[in-house]
Amino acid sequence: MTEHVQDSAGTAGPSGPSRRDVLRRGMFIGGAAVAGGAVGAVADHIAEHHDAGDDVEPFYGAHQGGVVTNTQQHTVIAAFDLHTTSRGEVVEVLRRWSALAAALARGDSTTVPIYTPKDVSNAYSKTTQVSTTSDSLEAWQVGPSRLTVTIGFGRGLFLSDGKDRFGIAGAMPDELVELPHFAGDELDPDQSDGDLFLQACGDDLQVVFHAIRSIARISPDVAALRWTQVGYSPSNKAGTPRNLMGFKDGTINSNAHPPADLDATLWAGSDGQGWMRGGTYLVYRRIRMSLEHWDRLQVPDQEKVIGRQKVSGAPLGGSDEFDALDLTKRGSDGTPAIPATAHARLAAPETNNGAVIVRRAFAYNNGTTQFTERWPPWRQALEYDAGLLFLGYQQDPRKAFVPINSRLAINDALNQFTTHTASAVFAIPPGASGPGHWVGETLFA
Ligand code: HEM
Repeated sequence: MTEHVQDSAGTAGPSGPSRRDVLRRGMFIGGAAVAGGAVGAVADHIAEHHDAGDDVEPFYGAHQGGVVTNTQQHTVIAAFDLHTTSRGEVVEVLRRWSALAAALARGDSTTVPIYTPKDVSNAYSKTTQVSTTSDSLEAWQVGPSRLTVTIGFGRGLFLSDGKDRFGIAGAMPDELVELPHFAGDELDPDQSDGDLFLQACGDDLQVVFHAIRSIARISPDVAALRWTQVGYSPSNKAGTPRNLMGFKDGTINSNAHPPADLDATLWAGSDGQGWMRGGTYLVYRRIRMSLEHWDRLQVPDQEKVIGRQKVSGAPLGGSDEFDALDLTKRGSDGTPAIPATAHARLAAPETNNGAVIVRRAFAYNNGTTQFTERWPPWRQALEYDAGLLFLGYQQDPRKAFVPINSRLAINDALNQFTTHTASAVFAIPPGASGPGHWVGETLFA
């Protein structure tokens, strides 16, 4: 790892004052800047470059990272509302988001460039403009931690209250669907949807949160946070990670074990909007698990709900986790080995005209809430608000998530233990091709 100092003009050299000196200098200059109004001094920053290694995931490429990237242990996802009618401001936000995401993925220590639109002058932008921090430092020296930042676009970027705010309504992909209401949905609108989306994943939660909050800080008055959600995954060193129900989750059709032909199932091709080629579509659902209820169910009954064995992850009727699902197999009593209402059966491509979703599962734990039973024995208790962050990537949600979840919402035995509480669909554009390029360039340029 080499460390060097960048001046405000962007020139860099390996020699110069020590990092500590520069930090002190930055603070001093910052102080002077506040007093004297010399805002340019704030541009002083330190760049700390990490050599590419095992813990660096590339930001640039044909596809964005964080889709088929081997699952990291933490995620923070966030959605933003756009408070502007200026196409130029949206472009500027996206340019800066990409540049900062690339730097953070390299593990660079960066000054967050505060974006202040020319025609906006308010107390908040003035305050942030004279911010003196070179780097908030909470992720300093932790390393890149395999950070990926994935950028997405919601329907609101194209059409908001029927208005074509940025002159791009005609470029809205048909695949970017408005989901129908599914049986059992209890969605919180404040935790759903959004004009823009960020998914940061990495092996250190502080690095991941640092990425989200640094990027969100670039343009708070143009792209304002709408909601955030934190998730985690156990290390997959022991094999397929287990979800909070104790079952292996990600055995097939996941980022860890993707389908064979990603060009046919995951990446957008030549059929739809040209600017999306190499991108994909994300359906996000926050799904609460009734863990207290689930824990009372005997393991053989849990296995019938999922359609797989709990310890090995093998399909019922099979013996190995990676055995193919045999949906025709019957037990000695003549009933299907994998019950008709089992989750694995109802979600399988064989039951859904071959439809495939590449799942990237994280658990979430939002603490506890109190519930009151208003019938005997009239008790009050705490229950977990915990479950699954379903992040499902696919070429076309109209052919994958919508029909699959329509079937699941009605027949899946798992519904007795789960509730969908938040939802969103985002177009995930192709990756930025290299330094100077940005995610969204294919749409706006
Ligand atoms: C809390 C809710 C959920 C839990 C606990 C859960 C759990 C599981 C488990 C344990 C498996 C079997 C292991 C594996 O193949 O990875 C599985 C498979 C699968 N699930 Fe879910 N799941 C949930 C929600 C959903 C939703 C909402 C969908 C999509 C609409 C979905 C789609 C799938 C698919 C496509 C498979 C793979 C089936 C195959 O390719 O044969 N799951 N899920």
